[in-house]
Order: sequence, then C-alpha cells, then structure tokens
Amino acid sequence: MSINNEDYFQINTEILESFHKHRPPLDLYVFRENIGVLEPFYRKGGRLTDAQVSELAEICANGNLFVAHSDKKIYEAYMVRQLDLVLLDPNMTEGEIAELCIVGIALRFSSFYEQPVPDMMQFLYHDVMVVTEYLWQDKHRIAPFMRRLFRKAEPARHAVNTMIVGTWLWMQMNQDYSRKELDRVMLALVLHDAGMCKVPQFYLSKKGRLTQDEWDKMSKHTVASVKLMQKCDLKFDELIRACFEHHERMDGSGYPQRTRAGQISVMGRLTALADSFSAMICDRAYAKAKSPEQAGNELFADSRYDRTMASILSTAFVSGGPLSSLTDVDSKLEAFKNSQA
Ligand SMILES: [Fe+2]
Ligand SMILES: [Fe+2]
Repeated sequence: MSINNEDYFQINTEILESFHKHRPPLDLYVFRENIGVLEPFYRKGGRLTDAQVSELAEICANGNLFVAHSDKKIYEAYMVRQLDLVLLDPNMTEGEIAELCIVGIALRFSSFYEQPVPDMMQFLYHDVMVVTEYLWQDKHRIAPFMRRLFRKAEPARHAVNTMIVGTWLWMQMNQDYSRKELDRVMLALVLHDAGMCKVPQFYLSKKGRLTQDEWDKMSKHTVASVKLMQKCDLKFDELIRACFEHHERMDGSGYPQRTRAGQISVMGRLTALADSFSAMICDRAYAKAKSPEQAGNELFADSRYDRTMASILSTAFVSGGPLSSLTDVDSKLEAFKNSQA
C-alpha cells in the first residue's frame, strides 16, 4: 500500500503478538475500510491501553494493520533477533528472508563465540533450526543463500559461509535426505570451528607465519571444538567429524591425525572443502580474497580435496551462471550490529 509516496506493509497476528503488548517497537497504522483511509494508531515510545490492545488485535485479524516502510529497519532488526518471525511474513522475498537468516545466524554465532556456554548455544541451535525448517520446505531456497556469502574474514562470517556452501554442496550430492540429517549437517558445518574461540584471537589476524608454539595451539582448535560441543551436550557423528576432520587432507598432509582419503569421513571431506572455499573468498591477513569462481577452480585442481565434491563446487559459480553475482551481506551485517549497539 502506498500513500503520499510512503509505502506501508501489512502486519499479521503472529507478528503483532510477538511485539510487546503495550509497547510495540514501531509506529502502527490502521486502514479504516469504511472511509478508505490509513491513519496512525500508535507512535513508538507510547503505551497502549488494554482497550487499545484488544482493538488492535481485531484490526490486525481483519488484515488492516500496517507499518511504514521507513520503519523497515526497526522491523528487520527485531525479526533478526526472533528469526521465527521471518518465516511468518508473507510479504518478504526469498532474498530478504535469506539475508535476515544469514545476519541472524551470524549474530547468534558471535554471541556464542564470545560466551561459549550451553545457554548461548541454545539460541544458536534454535535459529539454525528455523533455517533448516525453511530449507526443508523447499531445497531450492538454498540458492539465494549462496548468492549472499560474506567477503570479510571473521569467525561468525566464516561459520555462516561454511554452513551455506557446505549445505548447498551436500544438497547437490543427496537427493533424498531426512529433516534430521539436514539439521545435523547444517549444525555441524556452522560449528566446525567453534573451538577457535579458545585460541588467542590475534593469531587469526597475524601477518606472517605463526611461531611453532602458536601453530601448536592453533591446530588444537579441532579437538577444542569437539570438547566444546560435548560441553554443550551436542554429540552426533556429523558434528564430531566436521569439527575433528575438517583440516585432514586426502593426501595425508592435514592435521590432527594426518589421515588419508578413505579414512576421512564424507562429512569431514565436505566440511574441509566448504571451509577452505569460505576462507579463500575472504580477504585474510596472509592472502587476498579470490572470486568464488577462481576459488572453486583452484580447489578442483588441488588433489588434497575430494575430487567429486570439488568438481560439483567448481560448477556453482561459473561466470554468467545463476550464482555468479554475489549480494553484499557484509554491510548488511554491519548495519544490524550498529542498530543493536
Ligand atoms: Fe578450522
Ligand atoms: Fe574453518
């Protein structure tokens, strides 16, 4: 709906009910059907009376409650923190949904990374389940996620990139899968490096080589991830494999166990590939970002990675293809971080 060049969008009952009953977070407008006019009903910062709360519920049930497009940022910042709402809004495009899911998971991951305790894991776990529910309904919805990979190196962005790329790849390789498998694969991918929070963070941005001592500590993040997941009571096989094996390589040159090809699980190989790809497309202290197409080709040419999986990934971002142009989600995430501050 558009009035005086201002756009308005409709709010449904589930979303209204998720707001504070007496103090909604944004301005609300009511469409008066009898006179065909949209008029202000509530200004943020105010307080609704009990009578107004009931009236509003009825107006909303009749499809006559609106918010202004100019408040969309407030509305989205609110949704990102209650990700379930994203799936309830019929007015959002697949791209907008993917964007909010990506930002939502990145923020949850950051909170867990800063405070790696079971309570924070609960929030992250819950939001990953919202995304798996969404992708379970239609696997093609992974495409708008693939067009929204982060290009800046940071633990939360890396976790989300790896989750998206790994899930896309896994979906290409598996036509029939259960909801439970999807849940587990996505959780395993997003958490593969969780133990990195136990490593001094300046290692991640250090220019030049790590000392032997620093390297020893850094390379223990695989084991640290497994331990941290156990502390959070998450123990399924895909997760342990993703955490423990994502730095193993097909030729035995990886760590921590230097296992080879067939000794590395499918989940370990999948995570290794998604992990390396996600790192390569970001600017890092020791290397410049590569284009997704270039990263895919280099991994396909690298015998340390599973060839079948790498060949599928290398086809994803070919120039001119549906995934060849990425949308900038780095600035979107920054905007949300600022709106939370
Ligand atoms: Fe790692
Ligand atoms: Fe990683």
